[in-house]
Amino acid sequence: MKSFIYHNPTKIVFGKDCVKESLAAELSHYGTRVLLTYGGGSIKKNGIYHTVKEALQQAGKEVFELSGIMSNPRTTKVREGIALCKEHNIDFILAVGGGSVIDCTKFIAGGATLPDTVDFWQTFFLDHQPVMEALPFGVVLTMAATGSEMNNGGVITDWETQKKLSGYGPALFPQFSMLDPTYTYTLPREQVAYGIVDMLSHLLEQYVSTPDDDNVTDSAIEGIFKNIVRNGRKSMEYLEDYEARSNIMWGATLALNRSLGLGKDQDWMTHALEHALSAFYDIPHGAGLAIMHPAYLRWILPNATARLMRFAKEVWGIEQGTMSDTDYALAGIEALETYFKEIGAPSTLEEVGIPKGSLPDIADSCVRYPTAYSNLTPKDALAIYESVYKK
Ligand code: NZQ
Ligand code: ZN
Repeated sequence: MKSFIYHNPTKIVFGKDCVKESLAAELSHYGTRVLLTYGGGSIKKNGIYHTVKEALQQAGKEVFELSGIMSNPRTTKVREGIALCKEHNIDFILAVGGGSVIDCTKFIAGGATLPDTVDFWQTFFLDHQPVMEALPFGVVLTMAATGSEMNNGGVITDWETQKKLSGYGPALFPQFSMLDPTYTYTLPREQVAYGIVDMLSHLLEQYVSTPDDDNVTDSAIEGIFKNIVRNGRKSMEYLEDYEARSNIMWGATLALNRSLGLGKDQDWMTHALEHALSAFYDIPHGAGLAIMHPAYLRWILPNATARLMRFAKEVWGIEQGTMSDTDYALAGIEALETYFKEIGAPSTLEEVGIPKGSLPDIADSCVRYPTAYSNLTPKDALAIYESVYKK
């Protein structure tokens, strides 16, 4: 196991009615001028907005709002939020939503501490400066997917240059995150499925890593993966199954609170392939991952056979029997692909409306790292995209 330092200060408050019962008390630790950030309006339809506003009022806060944070949040929205923070001397930000609202909030919080002459996108994304200082912020989570509620990273899209990039920093951990599984009941079915794909994909990025040793987190990943597969299936069957929704909500947080990748060189190339797709065509993150993850695993199979054989055995319970090592490893990838289809996620780029002619540009723009199992060229990335264009 490689050496590591792990520090995660985010306080988690979990359970039915936790927001109603504890948000006002949590807010009392922070300043009075609060910016409430949220998305396109789902929280107004399902009543979460009302509950949050009551807590803010009970805590005696002066509230300002930034609404309309879009999925795959854009630089323009972050800049709008930074301007609001500066104009109103905001002390604390409360993000109510899924990964997009949280990520946008993280960079508003970081950007608000920069001088007016310094641009957040240039600094935190193009120059890769970690965010060392930010306004404090908290989260009320409404969607189980990204793990952003308990990590210090975020993803922002600059639509003009068609770049979707990741930023991070020690100041980007939420002060607290409140997770009420019943808040996820109103999610559209396809978003539940995309969330399940995303959390499984996070587990896989950390599992298919090096060194290929017997890191204790691999066993944890296998257990969490199986639990999410099981409870994901139950969640899709009955959207208001509290136990199932609780498990996938906490499972998503565990999948990317960064504890499961410790001691390893992690891969994350599937995420890079997906981010390039949504930077060009604004597709849901989980939809892109469902298409790309099996394709990427097939690509790295010759270098990762042993690891993928373990995946087939320990996660999917497949016995090798007379199969060759390659076929055995492939059987695990196929089981993953079948599961994604079962929960209703797409499996080809054509299904999500991406024109074939755009693939070379997308492949060129894809951020590529020399990863544990691959060192992709733009030509390789294009071959992977083409392999799942149409079946
Ligand atoms: O905007 P509203 O109206 O709220 O609707 C949202 C949105 O349309 C809706 N929704 C959320 N909670 C709901 C609900 N609808 C009804 N009832 C509820 N309770 O769901 C839609 C999707 O929301 P979004 O926040 O975009 O989804 P997700 O949580 O999957 O976040 C995706 C973003 O996170 C990034 C992705 O790239 C993408 O930009 N990621 C962030 C990561 C991180 N910070 O660690 C890691 C991930 O790998 C990922 O890249
Ligand atoms: Zn993801």
